Amino acid sequence: MTAATAHPRIGSVAPDAFASAARRIMGRCDDLASISAGEGRITRVYLSPEHARVNQVVAAWMREVGMTARTDAAGNLTGVLPAADPDAPVVMLGSHLDTVTDAGRYDGILGVLLGIEVVRLLRERAADGGWQSPFPFGLEVAAFSDEEGTRFGKALLGSSAVAGAWEDGWWDLTDADGITLREAYRAFGLDPERVGEAARTSERLVGYLEAHIEQGVELDRRGEPLAVVSSIASARRFQVVVEGEARHAGGTPYDMRRDALLGASEAALAVERICSSEHHIIGTVGRLEAFPGAVNVVPGEARFSIDLRGEFDGARDATWARISAELDAIMGRRRLRWAAREVHAAPALFCDPLLQDVVRAGIGATDPGAEPATLFSPAGHDGMTIGSIAPVGMLFLRNPDGISHHPDEAVGTADVAVGLRAFAEAVALLGEERLP
Ligand code: GLV
Ligand code: MN
Ligand code: MN
Repeated sequence: MTAATAHPRIGSVAPDAFASAARRIMGRCDDLASISAGEGRITRVYLSPEHARVNQVVAAWMREVGMTARTDAAGNLTGVLPAADPDAPVVMLGSHLDTVTDAGRYDGILGVLLGIEVVRLLRERAADGGWQSPFPFGLEVAAFSDEEGTRFGKALLGSSAVAGAWEDGWWDLTDADGITLREAYRAFGLDPERVGEAARTSERLVGYLEAHIEQGVELDRRGEPLAVVSSIASARRFQVVVEGEARHAGGTPYDMRRDALLGASEAALAVERICSSEHHIIGTVGRLEAFPGAVNVVPGEARFSIDLRGEFDGARDATWARISAELDAIMGRRRLRWAAREVHAAPALFCDPLLQDVVRAGIGATDPGAEPATLFSPAGHDGMTIGSIAPVGMLFLRNPDGISHHPDEAVGTADVAVGLRAFAEAVALLGEERLP
C-alpha cells in the first residue's frame, strides 16, 4: 500500500459524528476520573476496588455499542464484536484503565474510549445493523488492568498475562502495605492458578492498535494534532537499597558518618549526569526514602527507584553498567553498601511497518497532503508486551505542554475528534488490506 493515502474510507460518516463522539469521550474521561482511591485526585491501581468499578462502568459502555464484555483471568476487560466467521482472527484496539498516583485523566483511558467509539462508528455505518465486524476480522477493545505498575512496581502486568508472559516470581511482589500480588488476586476474586487463561495466541491476532496522548512536547511544538509511532522505548526499573549507619545527628562528626541518604542523593545526581550524556536514554529517580526518617538521626538506610529507558536495549544496558560502576564508586567513597533489585524489564518494541502505514494513512485521510509526524515513544505502553504475540501500531494525539502523569494532563476535544477519525480510518484501511 502507499503510505499517507488520503482516500477516506470512513467518508460516509457525518463530520459531526466525530465531534459529538469526541465530546462523549471527554465527558467519560471526566466520569472515570471520579473513580479514584483518593478524594480530589485520580489514583486507580491494579486489583483495587476502583479497578473493579472502572471495569464495570466501561463494560457497560462496550455493551452499549454492541460488544460483549468480560473481565479476564488477570483483571483485564475486553469488549468483542465478532466477525461473520467465528474462527476469524481479531484486531485488538485498546490501552489501559489504571493510573499513576495523582494522575491525569487521559493516559490510557483515552485509548480505550477511542476504541469503543471506533466500534460505534463502524456499526452505525453498517447497513445490516452492524452486529458483526464489517471486516474479515473481529474487533476487540482491550482495557488493560495494569500498565503503570503503580501498586507492585512491575509495570505491564495486565498485558503480560495476555501475552502469555506471566512469571511465577511476580506472585511475591508486594505493595506498600505488604500485600502480595497473590493475595491481591484472591481479594479481587481472581484465582492465581488460572492466570494462564488470560493468554492469547498470535494466530488469533491480526494486530494491536493503540491510540494514546503523546506524553511529550513534540506535537505541541510542531502545531500538529497527530503522529505515527515508530517504536516504544525499552525499559528497566530497579529498587536500590543503600546501607550505612544510623547515629546521633548532633554527636557524630562528619568523618565518622555513613549517611545512606547522602549516598542515595549523589547516586540520583549520577543517574541524571550519565543518562543526559547519552542519546535517547532517560533515567529517573522518582522515589527516595530515608530511614529511620527522624530529623535528629543520620539516615542509616535509604531506598530509591531508578527508571531507565532507551531507544535500543543495548544502549540502555550499557548505561546501566555505567550507572552501576558509578554507584560502586560513590558508595565505596562513603563507606556504604548498596544493592539493586530489578523489578521490571521490557525490550524496545518496533512498530509493525504495515500498521505504521495504516496509521499514517489514517492521519493522511484527515489532512490530505500533509506528511504526518513519526515519533519514537519514550513512554511505555501495553504494546511492549502485546508485541510478542501481535504486530503493534500506535497513534499519538497532541498533549498540550507535554504534561502527563500529572493532574494537568490535557488533550483538546478537536484533537480527539480528528484522532478518532484517523484511528477509524486506519482500522478500515486494515480491513481493506486483509480482504482476499
Ligand atoms: C507509563 O506511562 C510509563 O511510561 O511509565
Ligand atoms: Mn502512564
Ligand atoms: Mn499510558
